[in-house]
Amino acid sequence: MALKDKVILVTGGTSGIGEGCVRHFASLGAKVVIASNQREPGEALEEELRAAGQDAHFVFTDVSQEDSVQSMVARTLHFHGRIDGVHCNAGVWAKGKATEFNDAVWEKVMGVNVKSVLWTAKHVIPIMENQGQGVILITTSVAAQIGFPSHALYCASKAALEAIIRCLAVDHAGKVRVVGISPGTIDTPMLAATCEGWDKPVAELYADVARRIPVRRLGQPQDIAQAAAFLLSDEASYINATTIVLDGGTMALPPW
Ligand SMILES: NC(=O)c1ccc[n+]([C@@H]2O[C@H](COP(=O)([O-])OP(=O)(O)OC[C@H]3O[C@@H](n4cnc5c(N)ncnc54)[C@H](O)[C@@H]3O)[C@@H](O)[C@H]2O)c1
Repeated sequence: MALKDKVILVTGGTSGIGEGCVRHFASLGAKVVIASNQREPGEALEEELRAAGQDAHFVFTDVSQEDSVQSMVARTLHFHGRIDGVHCNAGVWAKGKATEFNDAVWEKVMGVNVKSVLWTAKHVIPIMENQGQGVILITTSVAAQIGFPSHALYCASKAALEAIIRCLAVDHAGKVRVVGISPGTIDTPMLAATCEGWDKPVAELYADVARRIPVRRLGQPQDIAQAAAFLLSDEASYINATTIVLDGGTMALPPW
């Protein structure tokens, strides 16, 4: 199995896409470290996976803070002595036009979505370079490519990640492979939160969206997890400095 015995750290691993990835990687035999700022779900997931005979540790982390990221990386190294892959997936969503912009929303969105990835890269790359190899996988979004109404900062944060992927891959070439996954509409608590304030119940909104997506359904965390496992594996060793879109064909739709 492609991830058997690989040490994989997943940020935002207690909900939605990250939780789906943790469950899938662990089922493939990876030694999974679950990092997030949701303590109870993290401890419960660690316990559940261990009870099933899988290898999992939860590390409470605020990825927007350097000291917390440094400790997340140090604890992963302490558990396993190496880090084969990091999936930088933690993210927050915020709605708002530039006319509603303020420092607090910048700190929240850029802190969790972008600064976190730079802190993680800063602390994990020396370990991967020392090992001679490692993979950093970053969850971006189709929002990096689309002008979603009232989402300027969220879209900008995801576009920044696509630039960071290219730059990290170039700067640390030969030892660290860096790739992105760009999900479309995935059925997670974050997606449900984006439906608040609309004039229809969530189920109806989801059905409308599913009818438009070329594969005629919303994505599930497992759809992302399967691609993520491949990208983190040695089988994807020639995929580097690029972002794979996982949107069921949404980006191919005409704009009317
Ligand atoms: N759901 C979608 O349709 C969709 C589409 C495109 C991209 N994404 C991206 O996928 C990623 C996962 O989103 P999701 O839909 O699973 O959302 P989610 O809200 O279900 O999960 C987000 C996770 O990030 C963690 N997190 C948030 N702030 C954190 C912090 N400061 N420190 C540590 N962990 C923190 C949360 O605890 C949670 O585990 C995000 O980066 C999101 O932007 C989601």
